Amino acid sequence: MDRRETALITGASMGIGKELAKIFASDGRDLVLVARSEDKLQSLARELESAHGIAAHVVPADLTDPGAPARIFSVLENEGLGVDYLVNNAGFGANGPFAELPLQSQMDMLQVNIDALVALTHLALQGMLARKRGRILNIASTAGFQPGPDMAVYYATKSFVLLFSEGIAEEVKDAGVTVTAHCPGATATNFAGTAGNDTSILFKLGAAPADKVARHAYRSMMKGKVVAIEGLMNWLTAFSVRFSPRFLVRKIARWMNKTGA
Ligand SMILES: NC(=O)c1ccc[n+]([C@@H]2O[C@H](COP(=O)([O-])OP(=O)(O)OC[C@H]3O[C@@H](n4cnc5c(N)ncnc54)[C@H](OP(=O)(O)O)[C@@H]3O)[C@@H](O)[C@H]2O)c1
Repeated sequence: MDRRETALITGASMGIGKELAKIFASDGRDLVLVARSEDKLQSLARELESAHGIAAHVVPADLTDPGAPARIFSVLENEGLGVDYLVNNAGFGANGPFAELPLQSQMDMLQVNIDALVALTHLALQGMLARKRGRILNIASTAGFQPGPDMAVYYATKSFVLLFSEGIAEEVKDAGVTVTAHCPGATATNFAGTAGNDTSILFKLGAAPADKVARHAYRSMMKGKVVAIEGLMNWLTAFSVRFSPRFLVRKIARWMNKTGA
């Protein structure tokens, strides 16, 4: 190999994305770190460069901005960087009845969780298909397997990520490119706090450590798995949804998302 491989990771400033950045770096990959918090990205970049002798580039971006994906790729082009691994990890949720949540935050969620992911995937795939090599890791969720009353838009965005990833995985599987939809269950990050979901029954039942989830996601991507669910209980939950009556699935999901109980 004439150059080190490069991984572009969105939402790398904390949580699962930050843990994924550490794994890619420890495996000797260069990094492109994307999120809004430039200070956090810079300190992570310097830490990983000195620990692993890799190069870490920081590209601050707010993915609610529809122009952000193209701008990120034009920075990469100017610096002569290709993307061998794309990790679409940035995302957020919001807990509450849809009609009572501010519309703008729901539209921003669609932009970050769906639109930016689709745009970045399209941009990254061009080089990957030309090189006949590349891996895409999309962080979906066990939420993607079911409707989510009181987090209705969030669950629907994750369904999109799951189905979109499966669809394109099949399209590119003979072209040297893999696409993995990784589905964590409740994970101990800032996600629940941001979503106003930290007192929900789902999170009270327990949350997996972010580093464990990231390791599972990384391994699944490297094996080229199309859909990967972290943890046996999460797998059983996702599987049982297929055979349960929809009214029951909706009721249980609403109960799990209930806050302040
Ligand atoms: N934690 C869970 O229970 C759980 C379960 C299943 C799936 N997931 C998924 O896992 C992924 C990572 O979440 P996490 O749990 O690690 O949560 P987190 O700790 O809140 O991290 C979210 C990341 O996304 C970035 N981000 C959010 N809005 C952004 C925006 N507008 N522009 C650019 N970056 C933005 C944040 O960076 P800045 O704030 O610096 O921009 C941060 O780095 C998400 O897609 C989430 O849906 C999480």
